[in-house]
Amino acid sequence: MADIEIKGFKLPQVGLGTWQLTGRDCTRLVGQAIALGYRHIDTAQMYGNEAAVGEGVRASGKRNEIVVTTKVQPERLLPADLIRSVKESLSRLRFDHIDLLLIHWPNPRVPLADTLGAMAKLKQDGFVTAIGVSNFTVALLAEANRVTTEPLVCNQIECHPYLDQSKVIAATRSHGMAVVAYSPIAKGSAAGDRVLEAIAETHGKTAAQICLRYLVQQGIVVIPRTSKVERLEQNIALFDFELSELEMARIAKLAQPQGRMVDWAWSPKWD
Ligand SMILES: NC(=O)c1ccc[n+]([C@@H]2O[C@H](COP(=O)([O-])OP(=O)(O)OC[C@H]3O[C@@H](n4cnc5c(N)ncnc54)[C@H](OP(=O)(O)O)[C@@H]3O)[C@@H](O)[C@H]2O)c1
Repeated sequence: MADIEIKGFKLPQVGLGTWQLTGRDCTRLVGQAIALGYRHIDTAQMYGNEAAVGEGVRASGKRNEIVVTTKVQPERLLPADLIRSVKESLSRLRFDHIDLLLIHWPNPRVPLADTLGAMAKLKQDGFVTAIGVSNFTVALLAEANRVTTEPLVCNQIECHPYLDQSKVIAATRSHGMAVVAYSPIAKGSAAGDRVLEAIAETHGKTAAQICLRYLVQQGIVVIPRTSKVERLEQNIALFDFELSELEMARIAKLAQPQGRMVDWAWSPKWD
């Protein structure tokens, strides 16, 4: 599987999402994913599964080959809170460093320069290899890149065929950052979609694979989540076929005004 290289940091283009995976099941699945070739695992303080993810990664014996992302909760973005929370993440993961640390959601009550300053300090002190953001809009990306002292490598955003994210994707790229797609199979609803199923049949693939291929073919990093081993294998087998321009255009037409699936009271004003 290809890595995306951003500002000197290498991020494998397919990772395992772990939201809602917990305990032994989570540890086992992380181990199975790594055995199948996954080299990128996505967790967050909010998911309550850092200990289980860390155990799966350590048990694989491949810690040094794996990029583990975790994300700081929006209510812990003041510098002292952030530093404490990341040290807590490290002890739950039982790691000596986090590969990629993200701001999970923006928090308008905390100056971005303060949060990013604390993240830069963690990076300089060796606790974190790279830093980035999640759920950032065009305006927030501009501000973050203006005030940060360390390069920001990605913006993790909701991204699938049902949602037009072209503005924020263009802005992310204009700052030299990678786009990481969360909910990349639209929380499972790609399976059963008539257009995706029809294209899948011509390639001998599943609709979920067509959906993921649509994103990776645009240079986007994807972090699908599954609780099933057979799907783990499927979700990484995306590099032995190609979608035509016509197929890409057909899939792009699935975008809908109401296509957003992840939206909370604390969400920023979306582009
Ligand atoms: N930064 C953020 O704010 C944010 C927000 C949301 C998510 N995320 C991250 O992104 C990851 C992925 O997003 P997500 O969990 O929302 O949704 P997703 O990956 O788009 O979809 C997960 C759903 O799809 C099903 N599925 C997985 N592979 C499949 C396949 N090959 N065929 C058919 N169905 C399949 C899964 O069911 P089974 O388990 O039954 O396979 C599950 O119900 C999360 O786990 C998390 O790490 C980040």
